[in-house]
Amino acid sequence: MENSEENAAQYIDIDKLVPHPDNPRINDHAVEEVAGSIKRFGFAAPIIARREDSVVLCGHTRLKAAKSLGLSKVPVRFMDLDPVDAKLLMLADNKIGERADWNDDALQAIFEELQDEDLSGLGWDEEELSGILGDLYSEDEEEAIIEPPAPVQSDFNFTLLKGNCLEKLKEIPDNSIDSIVTDPPYEIGFMGKGWDDSGIAFNVELWKECYRVLKHGGHMVAFSATRTVHPMGVAIAKAGFEIRDMISWLYFSGFPKSHDVSKGIDRHLGSEREVVGYGESGKNALFGGLQNTEIGSGHSITKPATPEAQKWEGWGTALKPSYEPAILARKPLEKGLSVAENVLKHGTGAINIDACRFAYGDPCWVGPQTENLSRYNNGKENYNPTSFSFAPDERTLYNNSEEKGGRWPANIYQCPKASRSEREAGLEHLQGKSGAEAVDRNEGSAGLDNPRAGAGRTADQVKNFHPTVKPIGVMRWLCRLITPPNGTVLDPFLGSGTTAVSACLEGFDAIGCEMTEEYYPIIEGRIEWAKREREHGPKE
Ligand SMILES: C[S@@+](CC[C@H](N)C(=O)[O-])C[C@H]1O[C@@H](n2cnc3c(N)ncnc32)[C@H](O)[C@@H]1O
Repeated sequence: MENSEENAAQYIDIDKLVPHPDNPRINDHAVEEVAGSIKRFGFAAPIIARREDSVVLCGHTRLKAAKSLGLSKVPVRFMDLDPVDAKLLMLADNKIGERADWNDDALQAIFEELQDEDLSGLGWDEEELSGILGDLYSEDEEEAIIEPPAPVQSDFNFTLLKGNCLEKLKEIPDNSIDSIVTDPPYEIGFMGKGWDDSGIAFNVELWKECYRVLKHGGHMVAFSATRTVHPMGVAIAKAGFEIRDMISWLYFSGFPKSHDVSKGIDRHLGSEREVVGYGESGKNALFGGLQNTEIGSGHSITKPATPEAQKWEGWGTALKPSYEPAILARKPLEKGLSVAENVLKHGTGAINIDACRFAYGDPCWVGPQTENLSRYNNGKENYNPTSFSFAPDERTLYNNSEEKGGRWPANIYQCPKASRSEREAGLEHLQGKSGAEAVDRNEGSAGLDNPRAGAGRTADQVKNFHPTVKPIGVMRWLCRLITPPNGTVLDPFLGSGTTAVSACLEGFDAIGCEMTEEYYPIIEGRIEWAKREREHGPKE
């Protein structure tokens, strides 16, 4: 490696640096601490960036911290790296640091020596310091424990049924539930979880119990995976439900887990492929190599080495996952009753269109922002470019969209996956789990949807460690869509509690069932948070 001044760090305008678009580290929680360290000690290590485009490779947290401190210039060391090496360095920088171990005795000796100094902001929290320094630190230990907030008085009625829903639902009376919004196991063994591989979602007996407790005309939304929604749908129909529709939650952030057939053929034939460049276009990015390579992120492009591989160049095995389907089903109306009569008698049977309209500009709607109605009105009357219209006789209804505050709700809803702050709201007092605990527990590696994905052995504590947390946005919309005013929403598979949280925020009551004990404190913490929001916070 060249050892010249060119390689030395230089102070440059902070705004010239571009965070790497694929930085896999979740670092927001560390920014404050790093900012404290910069304030106290100065910039001890420069940021590393690619010379060609000033894309940051190492030091994203330092960069955010510097911005939070209002620094205009930061020390940067530029390196000449091609996009692949740049990305590898970014990964290595994050990962290799995790591999080193602490010599506990040496660490303890240093801390003992420095115990009269201010040890805050070094990266060790109070609990870790008391672990290292034992009694020397234990006087302050109590301060480190965060007490759970006092329970909130609320009109939200919530029951958590602890155990197997096949048994626990039996405690619920017939025809007593207004709606069911649920996210059952997808039966794909996600993250090695046994609960995601039991077959319960395909069990007609389960759906019969849901049918029994639901009021006549009551609706149910049940999520599934694109690969397993069909047997679940069949089981729901067999239990007696009418299948009304499918609703897709669109999220767009999934990664294609595709196998590059051409590369596979070359590997199979023992032929090495020549690297011919580094890609910016999408086509090859979808195959092989780094699974999370996204379009334009600089993956290596190789040339087929054999005629067979040439023939199958461009073939793969999977699409980019961008949505999760849910079945919208309804328990039949009471025999002999029309929708109107059923709604009047039971409050159930219809869906709440107006409360669920897609407000103009709301990204939940990803379709065209304007709709030309001229094919129905010859471009003359009632032209309204922002409303839907599918048939002339329905025009008036749809053309009210603006007055009613939004578009007619569609059977697709876009919102991103739940952020960490959303998942962990109300869990500040809980003892979290480290990334290593997660890996050990699962006997496998962290998956892309796992909140702990990418968290290493030394990662900070993850408090909502449920691996499949749904976003509150879509669950609130679904609860609102199918639950009558003051109704009770049931979720037989509560997980970390998102359905009940959403029901609470929407002003409904909720019953949830969950059999995995380690999720109970998470549910309880999130519910208390939702109750506080319902009583004091904003409604949206
Ligand atoms: C897909 S997760 C639900 C995640 C939830 N939507 C959230 O946002 O946190 C399914 C949950 O169902 C639970 N479960 C699986 N089988 C169950 C059963 N037979 N009875 C009760 N709970 C069950 C699992 O423990 C898991 O937490």
